[in-house]
Amino acid sequence: MMSSGSSGGRAPHRRGDEVPSMSTIASDHAAASLAVPVRGVDVPPFYTSLVARQAADLKRAGRTVVPMHFGQPSAGTPPAARAAAARALALDPTGYVESRELIERIARHYAEVYGVDVAPRRILLTNGASAALVAAFAALFGPGDRIGIGRPGYPAYRNALAALSREAVEIDCGPDSSFRLTAGALAAVDPPLNGVVIASPANPTGAMLDRAQLAALAGECRARGIRLLSDEIYHGISFGARAVSALEVEPEAIVINSFSKLYRMPGWRLGWLVVPEALASRLSAYVINLFLTPPTLSQHAALAAFDDSAELARSVETYRVNRDLLLGGLAAMGITRIAPPDGAFYLYADVGHLTRDSLAFCQRLLAETGVATAPGIDFDPVRGHRCIRLSFAITTPEVAQALALLGPWLAGQPRLEARPAEFPDASGAGAG
Ligand SMILES: Cc1ncc(COP(=O)(O)O)c(C=O)c1O
Repeated sequence: MMSSGSSGGRAPHRRGDEVPSMSTIASDHAAASLAVPVRGVDVPPFYTSLVARQAADLKRAGRTVVPMHFGQPSAGTPPAARAAAARALALDPTGYVESRELIERIARHYAEVYGVDVAPRRILLTNGASAALVAAFAALFGPGDRIGIGRPGYPAYRNALAALSREAVEIDCGPDSSFRLTAGALAAVDPPLNGVVIASPANPTGAMLDRAQLAALAGECRARGIRLLSDEIYHGISFGARAVSALEVEPEAIVINSFSKLYRMPGWRLGWLVVPEALASRLSAYVINLFLTPPTLSQHAALAAFDDSAELARSVETYRVNRDLLLGGLAAMGITRIAPPDGAFYLYADVGHLTRDSLAFCQRLLAETGVATAPGIDFDPVRGHRCIRLSFAITTPEVAQALALLGPWLAGQPRLEARPAEFPDASGAGAG
């Protein structure tokens, strides 16, 4: 397309062995964008990735960065998983693989952890939860269908739905709703929804639904013909009761999960879907046509990660210690309006007394202290301008280091005019 002659404003012809200069590339792009209209839906970036880029630049310049922006465990892949991948690599695993062993292991996981019987043919391996979500959104809904998502919530729900011309309908899950999606809020949506995505523990808040709340939501979905999708990517990381799977209360639920969080394997790009029997072939056709099979090495590694339960438990214990350290440290610095972190590894904090531009705030905080955080606008277009998310999936000394850096910096920040509190004050001290 790019090298077809020199007429009509097209880019000039280039021989195949010539390395294009930056200016040639720029003019190629200009020509391409003039010649071919872009027809896809505009989706915003992950604003956190702007912070990530800044963090990478700072690191390259020799600065210390405490990485609390992305939800990615800094402990790295469990050793048993890495060893399994190394063994598989020695066998040159270049084929497309859908590991029957891994699928059966996942099925056993549902029996052991949740007491739920899931036939292996209902489990589909995917390139992370991201691909699972895209396949489910594409296969189960049509253009213009309305899918409920919690606000604040994981930004890719909203943006992937938009990219596929499905309508994301935001339902307030802020402080007024105790950060949880309720059956009542679902019932109140008008016009009615075709589907809803829930996440417990949730990103960015860590809030969890108990069994009764989940059952009430599932009942509401059943009564109204709303397809229930449950993103269970943070299951296994909770600090009180274990998370309840949607499959425990609704056998027809679509479940999305991944090896990125509990299993500490985000870069291995591996996740899974559990779907009802009647939808298994349909979903499988979507997964294969869109993504073929997930990485072969990752499937070997994941099988080993499943059984390294002592290692996984140690991670969760570290997150618990980190969470408590961070909650206490932030409270001492006047940051007390924080969603209840029942699970996952995030604190979502209202810093409205310091900023109404969370992206600029995160960028300045990073530049001046080296602490990288995620801006609330990624998760909540309405109230996120006054919120930030801090990931505590890092080491405990790193959390201590972050607090030591944040303390003096926060003390020197000007306070904005007080407004009515939008988050409850965890210290009971009232609005600030
Ligand atoms: C709630 C939620 N769902 C899905 C994903 C995507 O995860 P994956 O790395 O498995 O694609 C993330 C990643 O942060 C997430 O937080």
